[in-house]
Amino acid sequence: MLGIETSCDETGVGIVRGTELLANVIASSMDEHARYGGVVPEIAARAHLEALEPTIRAALAEAGVTLAELDAVAVTSGPGLGGALMVGVGAAKALAIALDKPFYAVNHLVGHVGADLLRDDAGDAPLELPTIALLVSGGHTSLLHVRSLTNDVELLGETIDDAAGEAFDKVARLLGLPYPGGPQIDRAAAEGDPRAVRFPRGLSLPKDLARHRYDFSFSGLKTAVARHVEALRDAGEEVPVADIAASFREAVADVLTAKAIAACRDLRVPRLLLGGGVVANARVRALAAERAEAAGVALRIPPLSLCTDNGAMIAAIAAQRIMAGHGPSDLGVGADSTLPVTVVQA
Ligand code: KG4
Ligand code: ZN
Repeated sequence: MLGIETSCDETGVGIVRGTELLANVIASSMDEHARYGGVVPEIAARAHLEALEPTIRAALAEAGVTLAELDAVAVTSGPGLGGALMVGVGAAKALAIALDKPFYAVNHLVGHVGADLLRDDAGDAPLELPTIALLVSGGHTSLLHVRSLTNDVELLGETIDDAAGEAFDKVARLLGLPYPGGPQIDRAAAEGDPRAVRFPRGLSLPKDLARHRYDFSFSGLKTAVARHVEALRDAGEEVPVADIAASFREAVADVLTAKAIAACRDLRVPRLLLGGGVVANARVRALAAERAEAAGVALRIPPLSLCTDNGAMIAAIAAQRIMAGHGPSDLGVGADSTLPVTVVQA
């Protein structure tokens, strides 16, 4: 099964045999977005167009298979950036038609959970369901209740404004750190005091929890950091970058892990899986581990190469769908930037 992923700025092509990972090749257009401080959709779409063919070839070479040997072609059909998705969906359909192979249109968020199936650390227990999944990247911040990877996924909550990774990128910019900001803030924070500034925890007050128990909001936090930095600059004081980075990182990690563990407790699901690029964050990992242990929750974090956007996770979900007896998607299915998580395969 070949899987194509183009929902954001990574052109990912993966090849799997069931749950066995044969190839995982990524081309990223991140450098082209750097001077804008965030992903520019039109640039991402164009970069996918240029990167797709060489990335497909590289994946076939890595797996040691030919196009003719593929059984099927899978692609992310949503959610994501409309123009970027269209490039991948178009390419996958073209391949499927040219090779006369079935076509599978897969949900990106469910793919992030499916990535865990591909880990090869022998001795590790296989993924158990149901599980709560926290997916945090530059494009999404979602909390899912996954009862089946093929047909039963529920969205518990998501960000009502910025994605967590986006907040890292915007705050980095405020602090004069380069894009992508997540790794930069993580590094600066290691030298800072997380208690230096008490930044707000979005949607965590009792009145907000009533309506948004599992939702996230990071725009207020970003504004609070901006105000804080502005006040220091106005007063002619030096900006303590490490302390602000550490305090900001603490606020994000606190909210993400508190809500994810609350979902595990409320729904009596003693399992939590993390996915998305922000999972690289040292504090998010540490706090998730600490709180999961305290709550008796088993924490799973796939290797980072499978946490960030990739095509292999998409192929893995399509393979699961086939094994569960589902047929291919209709070639009339198109990109859907707001594809709901309840639709595992469009
Ligand atoms: O999953 P990913 O590679 O895909 C996209 O969203 O495109 O996630 C990238 C995001 C960026 O916003 C980046 O700043 C963030 O993940 N990120 C981090 C760290 N490493 C990457 N955020 C916080 N801490 C990190 N160490
Ligand atoms: Zn993603």
